[in-house]
Amino acid sequence: MSDILRVTGLVKHFGGLAAVDGVSFAVEANQIFAIIGPNGAGKTTTLDLVSGLLTPTAGRIEVLGSDVSAATPAQRCHAGLGRAFQVVQPFPEMTLRENVLVGALFGTPGRTRADAERRADAALELSGLAALADVDAEDLTLMQEKRLEIARALATEPSVLLLDEVMAGLRPAEARDAVALVKRVRDSGVTIVFIEHVMPVVRDLADRVLVMDHGKVVVEGSYAEVTQDARVIEAYLGKEEVA
Ligand SMILES: Nc1ncnc2c1ncn2[C@@H]1O[C@H](COP(=O)(O)OP(=O)(O)OP(=O)(O)O)[C@@H](O)[C@H]1O
Ligand SMILES: [Mg+2]
Repeated sequence: MSDILRVTGLVKHFGGLAAVDGVSFAVEANQIFAIIGPNGAGKTTTLDLVSGLLTPTAGRIEVLGSDVSAATPAQRCHAGLGRAFQVVQPFPEMTLRENVLVGALFGTPGRTRADAERRADAALELSGLAALADVDAEDLTLMQEKRLEIARALATEPSVLLLDEVMAGLRPAEARDAVALVKRVRDSGVTIVFIEHVMPVVRDLADRVLVMDHGKVVVEGSYAEVTQDARVIEAYLGKEEVA
């Protein structure tokens, strides 16, 4: 089967709030799959459930056909799920290479240090950070921090890379670079699931778009399909990006 990630009936309650309320979707190998929706729609919670940071109230998550619903985040990482976070938290007093090496060592235990170093350098190269490998992470611009976050996740050699608002706060030229980076990562054979508010970025990147609101799936389809959907226009009421 070509579905690399399959989520079925995912539910997460926080007390009385159903932050994620029966979400199902499937991502095919080598797709770029976007999750969009208003603030508080449940997008980050969905990725937290997929990556194992949160335990679902109900539902099933499969990666490459195996059920990882009860697996720890580390086990899911080893199963092929890589994650870049909405809030970037590098180790500030370590160099970029050292930061990425942590990801390389964590992602694939049992391999040699030399192998981890090779993968760290490859991830830095792919992320456009090779020239900054020996710079301390505390000295980075926001764009460089986002690239580092992607490099750290790539060093775990994921089959699926989960990206949460990696374009947020970037200037338009930087966002274009980030779009090119995501395409490059996909072309290297990684399937991508990303959360994004900036609609032109979604249009340029996404093969499929899942729209969420109030914890539920509103609609799933191509960018053209979902942006013509009356329910989506309503969910984004007043947001000119969709127009
Ligand atoms: N740990 C938590 N405890 C309680 N409520 C939470 C928790 N995390 C998220 N929520 C709530 O769950 C809902 C969904 O939050 P989530 O962060 O998934 O939204 P989002 O779609 O990522 O929004 P944004 O676009 O603002 O990042 C919100 O109402 C939020 O306040
Ligand atoms: Mg979020």
